[in-house]
Amino acid sequence: MSPEPPPKTRGILLAGGRGTRLYPMTTVVGKHMQPIYDKPMIYYSLTTLLLAGIREVLVISSPEDLPHLRGLLGDGAKWGVDLSYAVQPEPRGIAEALVIGEPFIGDDRVLLMLGDNIIYGGLDFLRRAVAEPADGATIFVYQVKDPTAYGVVEFDERLRAISLEEKPAEPRSSWAVVGIYLYGPECAQRARTLKPSGRGELEVTDLNRTYLDDGRLSVRRLGRGVAWFDTGTPENLLEASNFVRAIETRQGLIIGSPEEAAYHAGFCSLARFESNVRGMPHSPYRACLERVLREERAELRSRRE
Ligand code: TTP
Repeated sequence: MSPEPPPKTRGILLAGGRGTRLYPMTTVVGKHMQPIYDKPMIYYSLTTLLLAGIREVLVISSPEDLPHLRGLLGDGAKWGVDLSYAVQPEPRGIAEALVIGEPFIGDDRVLLMLGDNIIYGGLDFLRRAVAEPADGATIFVYQVKDPTAYGVVEFDERLRAISLEEKPAEPRSSWAVVGIYLYGPECAQRARTLKPSGRGELEVTDLNRTYLDDGRLSVRRLGRGVAWFDTGTPENLLEASNFVRAIETRQGLIIGSPEEAAYHAGFCSLARFESNVRGMPHSPYRACLERVLREERAELRSRRE
């Protein structure tokens, strides 16, 4: 008998919020449309979901930003993916995304990603987590020098979480929780039962704590070859832009391209990828993708010979 296929996982991309730390840049243009070097911020997190093998994605954002995101990304058909949209009327917390996304999640699993997080490097850890999901919830952690600004997790040798603290003054470990979370279909129901925090939000840490209390919170580590950025401040924006520029100009690779990711994930053919690129205005972004296309064609030729 063939092994059971992995359960289906859908993606939620949360891209609302206030973006106050990026004021005045976010007065007219929302945080997720701000440039990280040569493309809008939202491209990076969407690309990560596609590379994790997620084909159906719900984008959640504020009433002001949602039309812009829809205008930018469309319905995903030209990339062979399915993008849908939902409004979060007020930024009432990250865990509220699961309540809003409940009809979309249905009986499937969900990978929730924050639109202002960038993860670059070997994504095998993510593909594996999706393909072989642990029972309950999985959080992803990254080793940082100063964990006091983050959610911090302590875990045992079986990668089961032991404690979870939000911005602790005296962190119990150097592992920070990054903005991507994997949940089973019961997550929306759980998120509904949360009480808003002092700042009036349904906190994702509170949700994760319910799984911790049940002994069903697993941890996956991002290895040292992986780069993670949270791009919430002007400083972070510049840092992430410099990183992307360095990789793209030195290595000739492209980071954060949904067109390329959709092709590599097998969601669209090479011909479709090519026609998407041909339809773009002449720009450094298009030039980068043309190089990818040339290399891909050469690779296919050499495999045939
Ligand atoms: P934050 O950086 O916590 O908040 P923010 O984006 O509103 O920025 P600031 O603190 O400067 O005002 O949000 C993290 C990510 O989650 C970001 O991509 C926005 C998103 N988010 C929502 O979409 N809705 C919400 O209710 C919250 C709290 C965050």
